[in-house]
Amino acid sequence: MLRLGVMVSGGGTNLQAIIDSIESGYLVNCSIVTVVSSRKDAYALVRAEKHGIPSVCIRRKDYDTLEEYDEALVSHLKKYKVDLVVMAGFLSIVGERFINEFPSRIINIHPSLIPSFCGKGYYGIIPHKAALEYGVKVTGATVHFVTLEADSGPIILQKAVYVKEDDTPETLQKRVMEEAEWKILPEAIKLFSQGRLAVEGRKVRILKEESDIC
Ligand code: GRF
Repeated sequence: MLRLGVMVSGGGTNLQAIIDSIESGYLVNCSIVTVVSSRKDAYALVRAEKHGIPSVCIRRKDYDTLEEYDEALVSHLKKYKVDLVVMAGFLSIVGERFINEFPSRIINIHPSLIPSFCGKGYYGIIPHKAALEYGVKVTGATVHFVTLEADSGPIILQKAVYVKEDDTPETLQKRVMEEAEWKILPEAIKLFSQGRLAVEGRKVRILKEESDIC
């Protein structure tokens, strides 16, 4: 059983996509053992409760230093014996202590085609505003392994979404979520659970179906 720890800060629609993927049988041998929110008011916590998933709020402002915050997060995830950490809209910064605790075992969903519209300050609706302001014809979402530098770890999956002439940041965000995020995040978890993600330097090679792996 792959034990998932999902980290959230907002609406939790990506958390819901993972929950739905487990309940539908798309994800097998996976279980969300804990949801960690950086905010008390995150609707993601309501979603977790509705599905009987243990959740906790661990806020950065309750800790004097990043190291202490990291330690609080790490000890919680280790208590639940988490195998894969899934950042699903988690907005607090984590540090070296956290990253090094889970080498190649932290993934993140980002609402753009990295390396476009990513890095410090690009979160929530902002990548979509930037995409529209730039005039790109295609945007999308990326799932990547998390490293110390924001949004720059080895890319696992990406999915493109065409920009429409009459898109607003809000309509674009909704379509990127529906057509890309909610699909590639569960798919990346599935590939990880099958042992099919081979990190090779800054690239990720997706190994063939398990049956083909000699
Ligand atoms: C999503 O757009 C995700 O790409 C980004 O943060 C947002 C989280 O949304 N990292 P939700 O909380 O999953 O609805």
